[in-house]
Amino acid sequence: MLAHRMPVPKRVMRDSCLTGQVFPQSRRRRSHARAKIPAVTVSAAVDLSVEVGALRLSNPVIAASGTFGYGVEFAHLLDLNRLGGIVVKGLSLEPMAGAAAPRLCETPSGMLNAVGLQNIGVRAFVAEKLPALRAYRTHVIANVFGYSVEEYVGVIRILEEAEGLAGYELNISCPNTAHGGLQFGSDPQMVSEVVGAARRAARRPLWVKLSPNVTDIALIARAAENAGADALTVANTYQAMSVDIQTRKSRIGRVTGGLSGPAIKPITIRLVYEASRAVKIPIVGLGGVETPEDVMEYLIVGARAVQVGTANFARPDACQRLVEALEIACGKCKINDISSLTASLQVDCS
Ligand SMILES: Cc1cc2nc3c(=O)[nH]c(=O)nc-3n(C[C@H](O)[C@H](O)[C@H](O)COP(=O)(O)O)c2cc1C
Repeated sequence: MLAHRMPVPKRVMRDSCLTGQVFPQSRRRRSHARAKIPAVTVSAAVDLSVEVGALRLSNPVIAASGTFGYGVEFAHLLDLNRLGGIVVKGLSLEPMAGAAAPRLCETPSGMLNAVGLQNIGVRAFVAEKLPALRAYRTHVIANVFGYSVEEYVGVIRILEEAEGLAGYELNISCPNTAHGGLQFGSDPQMVSEVVGAARRAARRPLWVKLSPNVTDIALIARAAENAGADALTVANTYQAMSVDIQTRKSRIGRVTGGLSGPAIKPITIRLVYEASRAVKIPIVGLGGVETPEDVMEYLIVGARAVQVGTANFARPDACQRLVEALEIACGKCKINDISSLTASLQVDCS
């Protein structure tokens, strides 16, 4: 079901910005680009590089946590060096077996999952996966989670001893067992505590991945920024449920799960827009990214880069194909520097 939505150059050719409608920011550059660049080298002139805080990425397409293994498992399916970055599967202090099957199910416009954060544990990651990842020049970000502040800090301390990581991404959509299972990411005070503690433990850039299941994303975004986050990832999956009416059972083992894919994109676009107005630190957008136009939309509302999750399930080489399609789309739209799209939204009324 998801495969037919994947980015292919053919689809790029049909899209609106390629049929005359040019983004406002790029109008200025149009005649300049025409005068200087021969038609055949249009894509070679596109600068896809972006900066997310201290990190400079070769392009804005990053593989999202939990949808791309530990990166190395995909090395025979695509060129990892073509990606802007890789966020590895969430890492906990001890290995975790994860949730009961079934863990995934499709819905009409997205995917529901309850994997239960299965992972090999941070020590095994450092010993078994990181050495192979060091062979690539793509930035590798370690996604970190825990069920207490101490567990988050424990994972970071172990990673701090290891070479080959560009930074950390804190998944704060986890229950805090010391606070009756309330999600860290749903309360500004708890966000402050966990991000502050992680900040003190980490030398490397610290990204904080927000939960979308909150009333006011701006409040949470500011709490993370004030506690020392270098960037925000917006956002994780949406709590959701799907039922088989024949068996009257949930379609996933954990009964409720997280919704991802095309269905969530418009909702997350709004969250990125609101978060980007609330903080000064960079934002990485994710939710339903499949096409170059999806990337551009996230950038226009304020993101510096994007992550790609569910699309990797439809095609394991989705990220590389997206980078290639993005370069073509930018060339066709006369966007010479992709970072010029960030926060370029035109608002007629406020
Ligand atoms: C099967 C699956 C496993 C995931 N595991 C993690 C994880 O370990 N840590 C995390 O922060 N996010 C995890 N996510 C959330 C994704 O990284 C991403 O935030 C979400 O899927 C929305 O993006 P998408 O619509 O492009 O998939 C997972 C998502 C899926 C579908």
